[in-house]
Amino acid sequence: MKDIRRTLVAKLINDPAEYIGKEVDVKGWVRSRRGNKYVQFVALNDGSSVKSLQIVFDLAKFSEEDLKLVTTGSSINVQGTLVESQGKGQNVEIQAEALKVYGTADPETYPLQKKGHSLEFLREKAHLRPRTNFFSAVLRIRHALAYAVHKFFNDKGFYYFHTPLITASDCEGAGAQFQVTTLPLTDLPVNEEGKIDYSKDFFGKMASLTVSGQLEGELGATALGCIYTFGPTFRAENSNTPRHLSEFWMIEPEMAFYEIQDNMDLAEEFIKYCINYALEHCKDDIEFLAEHFDKELPERLRFVVENDFVRLPYTEGIRILEESGKKFEFPVHWGIDLASEHERYLVEEHFKKPVILTDYPKEIKAFYMKLNDDGKTVRAMDVLFPKIGEIIGGSQREEDLAKLQARVDEMGLEGMDWYLDTRRFGSVPHSGFGLGFERLVLFVTGMQNIRDVIPFPRYPKNCEY
Ligand code: 4AD
Ligand code: MG
Repeated sequence: MKDIRRTLVAKLINDPAEYIGKEVDVKGWVRSRRGNKYVQFVALNDGSSVKSLQIVFDLAKFSEEDLKLVTTGSSINVQGTLVESQGKGQNVEIQAEALKVYGTADPETYPLQKKGHSLEFLREKAHLRPRTNFFSAVLRIRHALAYAVHKFFNDKGFYYFHTPLITASDCEGAGAQFQVTTLPLTDLPVNEEGKIDYSKDFFGKMASLTVSGQLEGELGATALGCIYTFGPTFRAENSNTPRHLSEFWMIEPEMAFYEIQDNMDLAEEFIKYCINYALEHCKDDIEFLAEHFDKELPERLRFVVENDFVRLPYTEGIRILEESGKKFEFPVHWGIDLASEHERYLVEEHFKKPVILTDYPKEIKAFYMKLNDDGKTVRAMDVLFPKIGEIIGGSQREEDLAKLQARVDEMGLEGMDWYLDTRRFGSVPHSGFGLGFERLVLFVTGMQNIRDVIPFPRYPKNCEY
């Protein structure tokens, strides 16, 4: 091989002018190979684009023997001249001069042989599916969205605040925590009351994986002003739905001096920014997903970016559902926690727009939310999206020490003194929300199942890799 610097496939396909007629070097994996006894065409993909680069092997220059190892899935290095393509389906191609095979892939055993494997099949081969066009498109969009999250908050002067993954508190109080322990499970130490003696455990107390970084995030916001977290979150809910994972990523901004209106404004601006970022920077991938899975995807994304979200109190939402005349699986009355069918009715059928639902009954929301003057509802705000349902959950927080203390006692929460200190010393009105990152990726990619938008999904009875 000659000493030529490697160029990424995306560059050669999207920006070929400076390379046409020149010798280039590409490296990647073979997606397919076809041809006849005079010429062989190889589709080479290096992950930089959903598009593969066509390599033309003239069999006057290369023998069958040379190409024997160039099978679907094999990894190769090719050098040759970039030329405008005569054929349909690509703008440029490489006329190969030299070939090196790094690793072959046995056609008898390599699982990703043909195009169009089902998503279910690919989920069983999750360790290899990043090599498919569909999944690599999802992963590039996922990356772009993660970058957009950081860019949005950084440009607004928010600080990225790292909250712990192992914690001794339960933010959402839903009892859905994974316990972290080094105690011997077959020989648990017990105390005088016959209960497990956690003083013998690794941390000297019971500890779990976090369900949310919010409580610690509030400590950050009441010192730095505006912060956000972006990290893994763990929930042991036994929810086998296309919208739940046991391990997912959450973005949680928390802002001192923000009231509920400011919080809603930020949530709307933030989510539109992210979607717009993907529309601008992931054109090829979104186009590919639209073509193969979901024709209406680009239209739906633009619609969300271009329209104001509806803002509606929960009580009004319940009235609309009651008056809809629709037979829901779960009956509607004031006080219920909305099911996905209710959320989607409001968004997809009634308003045909994203909805921010506010002021939920206090009984169905977490202890930290600010109580309204009616004494019955709290300043919660859930953002509901078409196809997804709840994409963001947030609220203004209770800043009054006495009221918050009463809620903590009512719920029987222990060890919360450090949290109550934010209200004891220099308490301020403040608000925040949590965006489920995979639900955002789900929306932007148009995928149907949340297990298809994270590289290694964790869900009940599944912990591969
Ligand atoms: O509504 P949640 O439970 O809110 C909180 O955790 C707050 N502490 C957030 C805050 O105010 N800082 O979760 C927030 C979002 C949901 O709207 C949803 O998008 C996502 O996290 N989410 C999940 N995503 C995937 N799988 C699960 N099991 C999820 N549970 C929540
Ligand atoms: Mg919620």
